[in-house]
Order: sequence, then C-alpha cells, then structure tokens
Amino acid sequence: MKQYLFVVLLLSAFALAACGGGTSDTGGITLNEIPAEYVGWTNPLGGDAAAIVAGQAVFEQNCVSCHGATGLGDGEAGVALDPPPANLHKVNELAGEDYVYFVINEGVEGTSMVAWKDTLSQEQIQQVVAYIRATFTP
Ligand code: HEC
Repeated sequence: MKQYLFVVLLLSAFALAACGGGTSDTGGITLNEIPAEYVGWTNPLGGDAAAIVAGQAVFEQNCVSCHGATGLGDGEAGVALDPPPANLHKVNELAGEDYVYFVINEGVEGTSMVAWKDTLSQEQIQQVVAYIRATFTP
C-alpha cells in the first residue's frame, strides 16, 4: 500500500511538472531585468480616467503602427519586424507596471522598440502606461 501511494505521488509530481512547462507560454516575450531605479515604480496617475484618455492619444500617435490598435503586436509596420512587436496583453500578464514603464523609457536593445524618454514627456509616458494597463488586459 505504501509503495502504491509513493507511485501515485511520483506520477502526480511528473504531471505537475509537465503542466508547469505548458503554462509557461510567454507569447514569445522574454522579459529583461528591470534596472534598480525602475523596480517597484507605481504610476502617480494611477488609473485616472483623464490620464487613460490622454494615454490613448499618445498610443495612437506613437505606438499603434507597430503594436496595433488592439495591442496584439499586429500593427501595419509591425508585421515585418524581427523580433515582432510585443503583444501588450501578454506583457501585462507577465509583468508589472514598473516593467512597462521601464521599457517605454529605455527601449529594448537590439530591437525596433526604441527608448521614448527623450521623445515623450514623463507625463505622456505615465499616461500611456495608464492606458496600456487599463486597456490591454490579459
Ligand atoms: C517601430 C515599431 C515599434 C513602435 C513604434 C513601438 N514599439 Fe514597443 N515594441 C516593439 C518591438 C519590436 C518590441 C519587442 C521587443 C522584444 O522582443 O523584446 C516591443 C516591445 C514593447 C513592450 C514590451 C517589452 C518587452 O520586453 O517585450 C512594450 C511595453 C512596448 N513595446 C510599448 C510600446 C509603447 C508604449 C510604444 C509607443 C510609445 C511603442 N512600444 C512603440 C516595436 C515598437
């Protein structure tokens, strides 16, 4: 009886491990390490409705071409890129707002995701983070 239980436990452990592998579907997104100065950042604008509306305008002017209106990474200019633009629903699922804020500021080296901190104001970046977090829910 004891041996039987052991086998059952062992099998469950294998099944769990297999499931774990299956759920690590990251949609092709590899998160980069967040620099210390960005870790734990929270949006001073929170989920403010006016900020989200302003953030939508920032997104439509600067990000839609690659990330697509629905944030799936299927914008007109994005489809030909390698690596492709990130699916922002997936990013929101896998990462916190500090990560989103960091990436928009600093870009992702070696990809066409450029740093926006010299193009957009900090307020615009906060607004677009508010929009992305509120809109592209996992
Ligand atoms: C020229 C195309 C292009 C534009 C315009 C663009 N992005 Fe990206 N973006 C990318 C690509 C490509 C990646 C994927 C980078 C990677 O594979 O790590 C990406 C990744 C991201 C990510 C996830 C980071 C990660 O680790 O994958 C976020 C968040 C993001 N972009 C937000 C934005 C926002 C906000 C804007 C507008 C201010 C914007 N992007 C404009 C191409 C673009």
